[in-house]
Amino acid sequence: MKAIDIRNKYLKFFERHGHIVIPSAPLIPENDPSVLFTTAGMQPLVPYLLGEKHPEGTRLTDYQKCVRTVDIDEVGDNRHLTYFEMLGNWSLGDYFKEESIKMSFEFLTKELGIPVEKLSVTVFAGDEDAPRDEESARIWEEVGMPKDHIYYFGKDDNWWIAGEEGPCGPDTEMFYDTGKEPCNKNCNPSCGCGKYVEIWNNVFMEYYKNKDGYSKLKQRNVDTGLGLERMNMLLQGKETPYDTEIFKPIMDKLLELAKVDDITSRRIVAEHMRSSIMIISDGGRPSNVDRGYVLRRLIRRMTRHLNKLQINLDELSNLIELNIENLKEMYPELANNKEIIKQVIIEEKDKFIKTLEHGEKEFGKAITKIKNERLQKIDGQTIFKLYDTYGFPPEVTGDLAKEQGLELDMEEFKKLYKEHQEKSRMGSEQKFKGGLAGETPETIAYHTATHLLNAALKVVIGKDVHQKGSNITPERMRFDFSCDHKLTDEEKKEVEELVNKWISESLPVTVEEMKKEDAIKSGAECMFIEKYPDIVTVYSIGTVSKELCGGPHVKNTSELGKFVIKKEEASSQGVRRIKAILEK
Ligand code: ALA
Repeated sequence: MKAIDIRNKYLKFFERHGHIVIPSAPLIPENDPSVLFTTAGMQPLVPYLLGEKHPEGTRLTDYQKCVRTVDIDEVGDNRHLTYFEMLGNWSLGDYFKEESIKMSFEFLTKELGIPVEKLSVTVFAGDEDAPRDEESARIWEEVGMPKDHIYYFGKDDNWWIAGEEGPCGPDTEMFYDTGKEPCNKNCNPSCGCGKYVEIWNNVFMEYYKNKDGYSKLKQRNVDTGLGLERMNMLLQGKETPYDTEIFKPIMDKLLELAKVDDITSRRIVAEHMRSSIMIISDGGRPSNVDRGYVLRRLIRRMTRHLNKLQINLDELSNLIELNIENLKEMYPELANNKEIIKQVIIEEKDKFIKTLEHGEKEFGKAITKIKNERLQKIDGQTIFKLYDTYGFPPEVTGDLAKEQGLELDMEEFKKLYKEHQEKSRMGSEQKFKGGLAGETPETIAYHTATHLLNAALKVVIGKDVHQKGSNITPERMRFDFSCDHKLTDEEKKEVEELVNKWISESLPVTVEEMKKEDAIKSGAECMFIEKYPDIVTVYSIGTVSKELCGGPHVKNTSELGKFVIKKEEASSQGVRRIKAILEK
């Protein structure tokens, strides 16, 4: 069985159990600038977990492209990946523990044919926030899990939340026993020695956490996630994902090309190349901030390890082709994006090569100074400057320093790095608050028109319309919203007329700051409530619109000109898109 077969089996199985297969959301969250990448299948579904109606119903399943960046520096070992695929199934206020566990057990033992002896599960032990999950343990026993394969653990192991705030709950995790010797007599699924490998996580999401603590959600959900690469590796009896069909062809090719072999470097190249391909295919581009910086790091680290393997960098184009060839059965969209993917990676590689040259010069200068002053360590300022200005990763500086018999003052570097991160985090938040960077009078006017359009859609189509995204250029606006049908000509006309009526009424646009809870209570509209800071700015347009938003906006709707809808079309399942302009 290959990864794609596991994926297909999974989706079919849940389809048979009444789930609708929804497409993977893009790796780069479309309407949520507060996170870098999609990190779990549930992420694009947050509004529905919180109670909004999903157009496809209450049982969903998909495969989701994910990137988790916390582990970048671990890549190269036998298990950490930055890009991975998560298979998931969801109950949005539909089934709960019993059906969820029964389906998981059936899928693992019947569909994948894993013997029950190879499986162990963990459930939540209970604490002051939520009770001990004896129900899940009982269901596991009923379906046939031996009692001594069921473990209770606390929040650290058996509670799941994405970040600090949001929907969450106790989970039950399933583990695969690799057959390795127990690390000691108390060896268990939570010990991390490698004997037990987590394969699936079913979260019983019935709580919401914020800084005041836990409250119950409107509905009881199930959110599950199964890591495809890992499952594939285990079913094939392989030690690492690099030994499966996902990475093997590229690993072999790298071995063939390498003048000096180093398996860690080959894994880093193979992994980072795949992640970069997936990110670029979904629209990511290298830059110095946020997700662009992650992509930059991936490509640079990959380049450095190609150098380490002494592989001619002119091979890069062929290597990318090979990689895409290998991945396109799973991700057919890659075939169309092949040229741009190659171009972006190769351009970034070229930039990095220049950077390395400059960095080495700068390093040389720093060394002369340090030696003249008879110091033993390279100070944090220098490491940071090399990193920040010359894109020189500290591990490269470290390698070079070693050759000179010097050490790095990593403490000071880390401090500076943290400050830098803090600044860029604040920058991202600012961007989030402001919504759109690089405002012009035109984009500001469109921004206000977006609020009017949102309000008009609610009047004409219904209160259930919610904003799903927007994109503004100085020439036009684009607005995505939840709606289950194509707008009729009458509806479009009514929406247009209503927006123009409000424009002609010269409504004032006012702004106030308030506590998030108060804003919500007052009926202000917003996209992802859990993503906003505690104090929010709320923009009102006369009495027709009130939205959480960072602005900026015009002062009065009379500044907008004539609103004209140019196009109305489907954006994705249950989401429509309007393109409109303001005529002066
Ligand atoms: N959202 C859960 C996870 O990522 C299923 O593990």
